[in-house]
Amino acid sequence: MIWNDRLCTLPSGRYDGGIGSEGWARSQSEDAPPKNEETPLADDVRARTKLRSTEWFGKSDRDGFGHRSWMKNQGLPHHLFDGRPVIGICNTWSELTPCNAHFRRIADHVKRGVYEAGGFPLEFPVMSLGETLMRPTTMLFRNLVSMDVEESIRANPIDGVVLLMGCDKTTPALLMGAASCDLPTIGVSGGPMLNGKFRGQDIGSGTNVWSFSEDVRAGKMSLADFMEAEACMSRSAGHCMTMGTASTMASMVEALGMGMPGNAAIPAVDSRRYVLAHMAGRRAVEIVREDLRMSKILTRKAFENAIRVNAAIGGSTNAVVHLLALAGRVGTKLELADFDRLGHDIPLLVNLMPSGRFLMEDLYYAGGLPAVIRELGTLVHQDALTVNGKTMGENTADAPCYDREVVAAFKQPIQEKAGIAVLRGNLCPDGAVIKPSAATPALMKHRGKALVFESIEDFHGRIDTVEADETMVMVMKGAGPKGYPGFPEVGNMPLPAKVLKKGITDMVRISDARMSGTAYGTVVLHISPEAAAGGTLALVQSGDPIELDVEKRSLHLDVPEAELKRRHAAWKPPQPGYDRGYARLYIDHVLQAHEGADLDFLVGKSGAAVARESH
Ligand code: FES
Repeated sequence: MIWNDRLCTLPSGRYDGGIGSEGWARSQSEDAPPKNEETPLADDVRARTKLRSTEWFGKSDRDGFGHRSWMKNQGLPHHLFDGRPVIGICNTWSELTPCNAHFRRIADHVKRGVYEAGGFPLEFPVMSLGETLMRPTTMLFRNLVSMDVEESIRANPIDGVVLLMGCDKTTPALLMGAASCDLPTIGVSGGPMLNGKFRGQDIGSGTNVWSFSEDVRAGKMSLADFMEAEACMSRSAGHCMTMGTASTMASMVEALGMGMPGNAAIPAVDSRRYVLAHMAGRRAVEIVREDLRMSKILTRKAFENAIRVNAAIGGSTNAVVHLLALAGRVGTKLELADFDRLGHDIPLLVNLMPSGRFLMEDLYYAGGLPAVIRELGTLVHQDALTVNGKTMGENTADAPCYDREVVAAFKQPIQEKAGIAVLRGNLCPDGAVIKPSAATPALMKHRGKALVFESIEDFHGRIDTVEADETMVMVMKGAGPKGYPGFPEVGNMPLPAKVLKKGITDMVRISDARMSGTAYGTVVLHISPEAAAGGTLALVQSGDPIELDVEKRSLHLDVPEAELKRRHAAWKPPQPGYDRGYARLYIDHVLQAHEGADLDFLVGKSGAAVARESH
């Protein structure tokens, strides 16, 4: 017996997505598809509804003929064009994005729900971002996908949207693009993979890739065993099942109120994931009728909830960048300092890799995200509205916890003060972040000599031979938004071979990069301004003393100001290496990490209105 059987399944055995039996009955009676197969396009129907899709499908002229006629080549009956809400299902399915490769089936279940509630579902593709294959980094394309999403929604006869999201960047990209249109929208995450199993042990996506590869380099694991572990790690459909970026962002969808209760943790292959998709489809039709736009959900309270939940789950540092960018789209005031101010006292309640032991499947069986949110009590804004029409408090008030090893009680947390810490100092005047729950406590206050790598290529070329010891501070430059370009996940640099062979597993590492949410270590990230933008990071030389003091929130390069001025005068900005195309546009317009790394001209929203006809 697990939580979702109780909260999300009515006594009659029906999952209602938290809508409740009254809402179910209402939508059954009011929203049932018309009995007549062929419903004429009556003017009174169109007059009653003020849906934007009627601007396309509700016309009796040449344009209306064109809009409907070509759609009918898909076998769509005439009555679907009678003025019912058109729900666009924004799909990031791709065989090149294995985490989202099951999304056609999820879309089918969303469609069932939309039809059942009297809507007209239309699925459309957008560029997909597969974390494991794309070069130089998916983050380069997050903003491009957000443009694809925004323009696809606005340009088409869509009244409400269901976003299908899974692999890391697909979630922020779709939320950002949809937010700039601001239609009624529901997020549906694809769900995590089942737990990895290797020789009787649970293994986690990403987290064990890092640990196994270090074991191979340290001579503790054979290459044959390493290769065998590949198939054992990824054994079902779904995204990474650690509390990496995908699980973090699926949790943010739920914590922001943009997803149905239970969205974050139901495994991709569990039948209840498909029931959730079905109920999201039903609800999408209702929120069009209620005009429940994204901007009504994504308030300051919603973001504050997300920040606190991210701390309690030991979520990825990537959530910082994505939430800042999303807030910028809806016009909600949010800044880097909010993550520390609101999150730093929040205890770690979820015992998942990379900060802990368990995996997302275990979190689902333990009660899922509602159990975590309930533990946070009034630290979460109870009155924040969510897409199922209820408040966060109503959705989580009775959420039980079935396993205190996985979801700890607030009074007996896994770790005190687990929120992301925001550092300042001459190395990061606009900020940098560190995830204390994934760091080594003894290294949280540390002074050491810099071991500098000018680029990722420099790092790869020297890491197995470089003279180093564990007291040093590893420094990587050129991995920020402009510098790479694209802000890759390379901040969790593997340790020098000479250090690993001593049995050392962590060193202080600092960079302008991000790191995978599945990674761990005492890793300072998102240094702003980045090296390529002329930040102090660009001036660090091997041997310079660096002081990290997480308690004091400081990161300091202990080099005299006059010497830094001299180095800055001699510094030349790196050549971008791209003179055309999207990468050039990105380099010219990307904002720094502390601003969410959106493109400057994408900040804000334009709504969904389109003034002109196409023909
Ligand atoms: Fe897709 Fe981790 S690689 S979620």
